Amino acid sequence: MQDVTDGAFWKLMHRYGGADIYWTEYFRVHASSRLEKWIVASIEQNATGRPVVAQMIGNDIPSLVRTAKELQHLPVAAVDLNLGCPAPIVYQKCAGGGLLREPQRIDAILGALRDAVSIKFTVKTRVGFASPDEFDSLLPIFAKHSLDLLTVHARTVAQMYRLPVHYDLIRHAAEAMKCPICANGHVYSADQALEVVTQTKAQGLMIGRGVIRSPWLFDQIRQRLRGNPVTYPSGRDVIEYITALWESQASFAAPEKIQVERMKKFMNYLGEGVGVEGQFLHQIRRAATRTDFFRICSEYLDHDQVMRLEPPVGA
Ligand SMILES: Cc1cc2nc3c(=O)[nH]c(=O)nc-3n(C[C@H](O)[C@H](O)[C@H](O)COP(=O)(O)O)c2cc1C
Repeated sequence: MQDVTDGAFWKLMHRYGGADIYWTEYFRVHASSRLEKWIVASIEQNATGRPVVAQMIGNDIPSLVRTAKELQHLPVAAVDLNLGCPAPIVYQKCAGGGLLREPQRIDAILGALRDAVSIKFTVKTRVGFASPDEFDSLLPIFAKHSLDLLTVHARTVAQMYRLPVHYDLIRHAAEAMKCPICANGHVYSADQALEVVTQTKAQGLMIGRGVIRSPWLFDQIRQRLRGNPVTYPSGRDVIEYITALWESQASFAAPEKIQVERMKKFMNYLGEGVGVEGQFLHQIRRAATRTDFFRICSEYLDHDQVMRLEPPVGA
């Protein structure tokens, strides 16, 4: 995830059990692009011992091929192409999710990349640009290029992050495609994870915002899959996580105010799990100093009660 999943974030997730595989934020690829140094540093300094997939976004074939070749010199398990980013600045340039409007162009890009990538080559897609009905005509294009994995974020680009997630289409992909399918979209609890895996028949699960909110989620899912009781953090455990997140992100060069603002980005996800009324998040968004920030955290979280950090049932 852009601005989130750097090496420091992976390392922090790993302290809580972590993912089996990590994806980089995307490398922006165009005629004059160079590999972003901070993403390369995350890959080279990956301290988790788990594989990393390098993701690219772009539409210019020679530049994508050049970048894919460069990425294969790094310790990455796969090269991935983003066909899902819904940011207008990206899709209006016909990159990310914008490419889903031009299936013939996807066909040409995947053909060139499949030839250029000798390690695993994977794609992350949404189910269409404007309508989930488009997915049926995208699947044969993905099938044609011997992908090693297809991750399906089962929303359209137009949907952005709104519900519903079209899990039935992930199942359709799992049944129609030869390659493994990774299901993605709106998983916030171990129960939901199990439900999505069962319903979609996907071989893997990609989780984004749910683990910013709760790094415990990875291990909770493992507990649930093994049939063990699921354990939850206490309020104080959550403060400890927030403190570790602050430390993982703290740059000594950045003024305190900037650090508080950076933490608010993460808190937008975490805060939704703290108190349904939204008062915690409301106050955190107004914090101006580190002292303010942690005073508010203590006010809501300095306790031993269990924090499920899950959305209400049905949400
Ligand atoms: C802040 C943020 C940044 C993201 N950046 C990327 C990205 O760089 N590449 C990508 O494939 N998806 C990106 N996504 C999308 C997520 O990977 C994921 O597909 C989406 O959030 C749905 O999954 P979730 O409900 O588990 O979060 C981003 C999402 C968010 C919220």
